[in-house]
Formats: sequence, structure tokens, C-alpha cells
Amino acid sequence: MMAVAKSVRQRVARLRDEINYHNYRYYVLDDPEITDAEYDRLLRELQELEEKYPELVTTDSPTQRVGATPLKEFAEVHHEVPMLSLENAFSDEEVFDFDRRARERLNVAEIEYAVEPKLDGLAISLLYKEGVLSRAATRGDGTTGEDVTQNVRTIDAIPLRLLGKGYPGILEVRGEVIMTKAGFEKLNQLQRQHGAKLFANPRNAAAGSLRQLDPRITATRPLSFFSYGNGLVEQGELPSRHHQIMQKMKSWGIPVNPESSVVKGVEGCLAYYRKMQQKRDSLPYDIDGIVYKVDRLDQQEKLGFVARAPRWALAHKFPAQEEMTKLLAIDVQVGRTGALTPVARLQPVHVGGVVVSNATLHNQDEIDRLDVRVGDTVIVRRAGDVIPQIVSVVLSRRKGNPPRYKLPDTCPVCGSPTARLSGEVVTYCTGGLYCPAQRKQAIKHFASRRAMDIEGLGDKLVEQLVDEKLVNDVADLYDLTVEQVQQLERMGPKSAHNLIAALEKSKSTTLARFLYALGIHDVGETTAQTLASHFGSLEKIMHADEETLMAVPDIGPVVAESIIRFFRQKHNRKVIRKLQQAGIHWPTEKAKPSGKLPLQGKTFVLTGTLSKMTRDEAKAALQALGAKVTGSVSKKTDYVVAGENPGSKADKAEALGVTILDEKDFQALLDEHA
Ligand code: IVH
Repeated sequence: MMAVAKSVRQRVARLRDEINYHNYRYYVLDDPEITDAEYDRLLRELQELEEKYPELVTTDSPTQRVGATPLKEFAEVHHEVPMLSLENAFSDEEVFDFDRRARERLNVAEIEYAVEPKLDGLAISLLYKEGVLSRAATRGDGTTGEDVTQNVRTIDAIPLRLLGKGYPGILEVRGEVIMTKAGFEKLNQLQRQHGAKLFANPRNAAAGSLRQLDPRITATRPLSFFSYGNGLVEQGELPSRHHQIMQKMKSWGIPVNPESSVVKGVEGCLAYYRKMQQKRDSLPYDIDGIVYKVDRLDQQEKLGFVARAPRWALAHKFPAQEEMTKLLAIDVQVGRTGALTPVARLQPVHVGGVVVSNATLHNQDEIDRLDVRVGDTVIVRRAGDVIPQIVSVVLSRRKGNPPRYKLPDTCPVCGSPTARLSGEVVTYCTGGLYCPAQRKQAIKHFASRRAMDIEGLGDKLVEQLVDEKLVNDVADLYDLTVEQVQQLERMGPKSAHNLIAALEKSKSTTLARFLYALGIHDVGETTAQTLASHFGSLEKIMHADEETLMAVPDIGPVVAESIIRFFRQKHNRKVIRKLQQAGIHWPTEKAKPSGKLPLQGKTFVLTGTLSKMTRDEAKAALQALGAKVTGSVSKKTDYVVAGENPGSKADKAEALGVTILDEKDFQALLDEHA
């Protein structure tokens, strides 16, 4: 076999250095220098060279992260330096006590503390021999863990080889494997798509991902890593302060939490705690507290350990964001848009620093997914300002077999039937015009400019009218009197008069506007316009069945279903009748049952006098069929309609070869499309 050319070896070495450097920029400095695409190109070039020259492959090459053979089980790993846990503090007092005890033992006035977020992931030990990652292990019971090297190698943030120089020949890096909140959401979305089990939180997802026997699965999981210390060190030395050790680690390519800091005394610790508490929800990963560590190693040594925790470190926990409680009942709220939202009534419980007694359950799908039933013990989560959520049910605490929960068939506010449109997750009340819960919203929409265009009837006024019980549904608007209106706040006689006049004016409208104003789900302006021109009359739309509606261009099964449901409601029909009785009217339109109007795209010019209609009527008739009517003849004119005594326009048409229609031809054209 021919030896691999020196130039190829050099290129391979150079590519590895470059890739490792860019990993460092990305994961350690959080400051990438090149684009993802460029990074991928480097990696691909290296892959291709290694495929061509397999003898150049090394285990620490950045291409060798995913091993192909699943394990039968994890091997045991003995931790030469035990992996300890931390003492917890839940109040400022406990932090003061901790600091006081430490100062007394050390006989100093003030201690410098290294402070860092307490990451909510799982502890890992990474053993680097001569700078090469040789073994990774979980914490286990602190003395014996599991060998998860294959899986840890797939985590891009963890270098397979250390950068730079000066690291000890044997260096055990310790830290936390985490999953970002975004990565967790994405993973759960995928799990849902595949009908797989959802993870309760990022920590569980990270733990589950790291305990896969098949590293190819771990490789697909968005895991990351931050170091917070070291274990075994041989053949070399580390600096004498914790924060300096972390800086060194960073320089060797190990990610260290960028929020880490050094503070003076207990006051510094508490100030940092408050700052991070504010920042907690905006961080891309979950943290559950702050860890304070005596920074000087000589002081750490003096302080030593108690049982399984060091005397030189303390975990100051944030209020828990998840707690267990009992689901007492499920209530249903009807929103302004008619959407039914199930709300969990909970046994009050402290979560995230406040008392929580309600949580949203979103919709029927969510209830089904959680399989949550009244009486269940549930885990409630409240993070930051978000509405409390139910994360899961503690099935082992379920008593008996309580019935599954279904949203009601009738609206709890108005009694109209509820409906869930196909393809949607939301269940709606169908009493759109009648339901008190939707009243204000329905009236505001009805009055809006593109609907009935009732000038002066703004949101504030609608609220007052409803609150004062002057208006219950949109039809009541037309019963309002000047006297009633002028009694309202900020309403003079003049504005009251104006409003009544505007209401009067709005009675003369178009079918399309009226349809849109009704606020039928999924019927926007365009659909309303299409329906109006297709059917020509409200009666026809109200009585159309699904098939008839689906024959209209752009109307699919969902919209058809919405329309049918709306008009099937007795209450809605009643309001419409009241509106018509109040005098709302529109010009009757001839139905043109097709999407495209027959004369769309055609340009007409009218000249001379027609005997059966005025020029304006002729123009309106043409426009109704989609034609454009202009004032002068050009090459673009399609037809000139010439009545009695046509003017020069007819001559020009003749000269340009434009078709001239006399009144009889014109009438025939209109009849044809009537
Ligand atoms: S130091 C001897 N620092 O918390 C001290 N631990 O309750 C060893 N943890 O098992 C731990 N963030 O998994 C330390 N910044 C941090 C940490 C941290 C999270 C975890 C770690 C450990 C557990 C102890």
C-alpha cells in the first residue's frame, strides 16, 4: 500500500485544528467566527479525506463523535475522587449562617466567593488523558457511576481533544450536561409528531438522552455542557483559586458558564442571587439556584467536608417552579372570540414564589394528552410571568378510575351548542351573535370600519353600552335613542345625535359587508365578498348546504362547516331577523355563481343614448359583470356600446377596429350573463 502523501496528512491535521478552533469559538466563547455553512464544509472535507484514507482516522477526530454500535449495558466506573453533593439553602438566613460558620473556621473577616448558576441537568465526569477525552461517567451514587463515553462523545460542546497547552496529563473535568429550553421544546415537538412519550422538563430529557444505549439516538438530542469544577488531577497543576481554574478550563476549550462571577462576602452572594433570579427566565437553560463556592483552594482545604458535602460550597435554591397539588375541578371559560378554555382549579400551592390555585389546560387535546382527570394529583409548573401549566399527572396517586374529562356540548355562558371545527384544536361556542361572553367583541367587530362602518361607535363606547345593559346584541344598537346615549360618560347631545345618525346611515350597506359584520368564524372580508357575489342573497347563503357552499371557489370544508353552524343557530338567525326588521338593507345582487366574473378583464366605452337604461345604469350593469368602463376609446378598448346619436367615440372605434355593439347587441350580452 502506498503511504499517504505528506500534503494530505498536513491538510487533515490542519482541518482538525480549524474545526476544533471553531468549536471553541462557538461553544466556549459563544462568538463564532464563521458561518454554519462554512463549518459544515470544513467538516465534510475532513470526512471525505478520512473516507479516502482510513489510516488517518483518529478517535479524537471531530468526525468521530457518533460510534455505531449500541451497548448492551453501561459499564461501571469508580470515581477516584468522589462526586459530592451540595448543602442546600432556601433562605437568606441560611446563607448568612453558612458564611458565618466558614468565616469563623477560617478566622477571616470576609470571604471571596466564586458564584455560578446551579444548572438543572445532570452531573458528569470527563477524563482527559494527555488532552484526549478517554472516559465519561455519570455521578451515580457519587462513588460508582456509569460509563457513558459513547454518548458524551456525541455532545458537540464537549471537546474530544483539549486545546492549547499546559493542561495536566490527567485531568478530570466535572460539570453538568444540560438541554436548552429551546432544544427541549423542539425535541418534545418531534416526540409528539412520532407519537412518542413527552419529556416532563429539560432535565429529564437530558438524563433520558444520556442514558440511551444507542449513541446514534443521543447524537440526535440537543445536549450541551458547562463545567463547574475538576476531579482528579495528575501530572500537572491547576491554579490556586476556583475561578482561575475555570478560566484555565475555558482556555483549553471546555465550556464554562458565562454568568459565573467572583463576589465579596455574603452581601455579594445575595446581590448575585437576586440578579440571577431576575435573569432566570431569560436564560436559554433552566437553573434552579445559585452555587456559592469559597474561591481560594487553601481555604477550601481548611474547611473540608461534612458527610457527602463540602463545607466550602452552598446551593442557594430558587423557589421551585414545579410543585405537586390536587386538581379539584375543571371549569370552562368562554373567551371574547367564543373559544372555550378549560381551567384547572387547584388546591392552592406555592410555586415559583406565588400561590397558584388555577392553571390553564388549553384545550381538549391537551386534556387528552395529559389524561388529566378531576381528583388527580398533578405537577404544576410556573416559570416567570407565564400562566401556570399542568406538566403531568402523578398516576400512582390516582384513586379509582375517575371519568375522562370532555369539554361540554353546550356553552356554559349562553347554552348554545359548542363545536370543534375539523382540523382545529379549539372548541367554540356557536352562539356568536347571542352569547354574552362574546358580546363586546361581536359588537366591536360589527361596528368596525370594514364591516358596518358605524362612525363614532368605538371600543370604549361599546363597553359602556354593554355594561349599562343598553345593548345586548348587535340588533339592539338600532333601538338606541339620543336620550339613552347622551346619558353615557363623555357623551354630549351632539355626539349622541351623531351616533344615532351614523347608525341610521349604516343601515344602507352591501351584502358582503353585512356578512363580514356577522363575525362568522373563518369568514373574512374576501370570503364574505365571494359569498355575496356567488349567491346574491342572504337567504340563499343561510340555507346553503355543504355541497352548495363547497361549489364556491376558495370555500373548503372548514369554512363551509363554520357557515352552516353559524346559521343553524336559532339565536343567530333571530338577531339577523331583528337587524333586517330594523331596516338594514342592501342592493339586491344578481347571483353570479362562479369565481371569475364573466366580463372580467374587458374594457367598455359607452356612447350615445340607450332607450332602456341610463348611462349610469348601463355602467353599473357592466361593472357588476366585472367589466371596466372607461371614458375614451383606445387600442385597449374591447367594446364600444353605441346608442342613439353616438359621438366621435364610435368613429374612433371604427378606425381602431374595436367591436361596436348597438343597443340590441348590448342587451343580448347582458341577458346572456344575467
Ligand atoms: S459544584 C462539591 N456547581 O448540583 C461540589 N454543582 O447538588 C460539587 N450542579 O451533583 C458540585 N450546577 O450536578 C456545582 N455550578 C455548579 C452546579 C452544580 C449544578 C449540580 C451538580 C451536583 C449537584 C449537587
